[in-house]
Amino acid sequence: MQHLVETQQFDREALKRLFDLASSFEGKRDESLKGKILASLFFAPSTRTRLSFESAMMRLGGNVISMENASESSSSTKGETIEDTIRIVDNYADGIVLRHSEVGTAARAAAVSEVPIINGGDGIGQHPTQAFLDLYTIQREIGRTDDFHIAFVGNLAYYRSARSLAYLLGKYNNVRMTFVSGPELAMKDDVKEYLKENNVQFDETEDLESAMQVADVVYQTRVAEEWIPNHDDYTKLRDKYIITRPLTDHMKDGAILIHPLPRAGEIEPEVDDSPHAVYFKQAGYGVLVRMALLKTLLAAE
Ligand code: CP
Repeated sequence: MQHLVETQQFDREALKRLFDLASSFEGKRDESLKGKILASLFFAPSTRTRLSFESAMMRLGGNVISMENASESSSSTKGETIEDTIRIVDNYADGIVLRHSEVGTAARAAAVSEVPIINGGDGIGQHPTQAFLDLYTIQREIGRTDDFHIAFVGNLAYYRSARSLAYLLGKYNNVRMTFVSGPELAMKDDVKEYLKENNVQFDETEDLESAMQVADVVYQTRVAEEWIPNHDDYTKLRDKYIITRPLTDHMKDGAILIHPLPRAGEIEPEVDDSPHAVYFKQAGYGVLVRMALLKTLLAAE
């Protein structure tokens, strides 16, 4: 049995297999998880992660049981610990996808679960399946996972998906990273230390325009109000890095703009029909990648 708690667990070979499998699902359905049940336990809000996992499970012939608002509707409101909840739900399902607002919850669940746990986002910790689909998008749209320059923009301190992707890209060759943010939302030291240990070239700047002109991939983030400790800071930081159509029009030929979504004003709607804008396609790739992951983790169970 294998859990997915953080991106560092997957090596390049495993990711290649995962992405090949994801591509094989394009336009197809499969019955390989017929009779299996996925429990989606969401203690924090989600549109894409929960629905794409459930869609992926159904496209593989499986079934889903779901708690979409578990922080209010589950027995956690009566004081049940996450460990006890998982010890119960693992009797009901063959795999559990879990989202929670506290860092480390997926690891706590994995420590007690008898079925695979998939981290669907734990606080400001990690969101590994988002990072997998982000990298899959990069492979599909620029044709490579080595030898490119990525600019991460905006909220790098409190954006778990960007953290997960930075960790993941540490496994690839000649990937250069530029972190575009002010000091309040700068990428945290754990990621930077990991990149240094793995000889990944990175730099930090506050100059969005210049970074967008040289990057092959621009990764925009949301200044997530729910994670910024002080509301006054949030209102100050929210409008600092807005991607506009003129900025996008100066990106390199073939460069892409990605965003895990949801957005809250940080990419203007006029950007949506730019040839560089692939964020809606990226969300669609999420179903393929999650189908591949579910088949990989659950078919053998
Ligand atoms: N990208 C992402 O995780 O979106 P949701 O919060 O809607 O799942």
